[in-house]
Amino acid sequence: MERFKSLDPPHKGLRYALGQLTLLTGKTKFSDHQQVEKLKKLADEVFFLLKDHTKTENEFILKPLEEKNALAAEPYFEDHTDIEEWENHLFESIKNLDGTQTDDQGHLIYLNLCDFQSAYLDHIDEEDVELEEKLQKHFSDEELIQHQIKIMQQMEFSTLLLWFKYIVPARRIEENAQVLRNFKSNAPEEAFQAVIQTIQGELSHEEFEAIIKAI
Ligand SMILES: [Fe+2]
Ligand SMILES: [Fe+2]
Repeated sequence: MERFKSLDPPHKGLRYALGQLTLLTGKTKFSDHQQVEKLKKLADEVFFLLKDHTKTENEFILKPLEEKNALAAEPYFEDHTDIEEWENHLFESIKNLDGTQTDDQGHLIYLNLCDFQSAYLDHIDEEDVELEEKLQKHFSDEELIQHQIKIMQQMEFSTLLLWFKYIVPARRIEENAQVLRNFKSNAPEEAFQAVIQTIQGELSHEEFEAIIKAI
């Protein structure tokens, strides 16, 4: 039987978000204010989501696992501390860009970002393969879904919208339609419309129409 995968949606969204950030960093002219502002705006969103993911994963995924099996959760908590330190330095170096840097200085940030991306992809790959299996061993699908509901309930609406922005383009049409159907029946109409507007800006016309049809 196919099991519920708690980590799949945020990880797909983060892979997509980080890919966009390295791509944009690689083609930014660092003496061009407008291009630098565009890069900083994307970095704000991506680093916000990275931070939010670590926070919710610690609190709503790893803590419940720790209560069942402390040793199983420990390595991921440790990884998160190291990742956050690197993340903070990197974000700081992007925030400090002001259009007076040379392309060589920007290149160093680009290389550091690519290095971070590799390490981060490695981290979430380990979580998708090993942590997901541990979660499925210690919790039923109903319990795992409850963790997800708790995550969504404590989340600010603006944060939820940002997650939709990056997760929806990275998942299958049917998976998206299922999440959006649930959201539609549990959230106020205006919240649902805000989500629809957000994802419309991120998808091709064909993809958007296919999701709407499937809802
Ligand atoms: Fe993690
Ligand atoms: Fe994760």
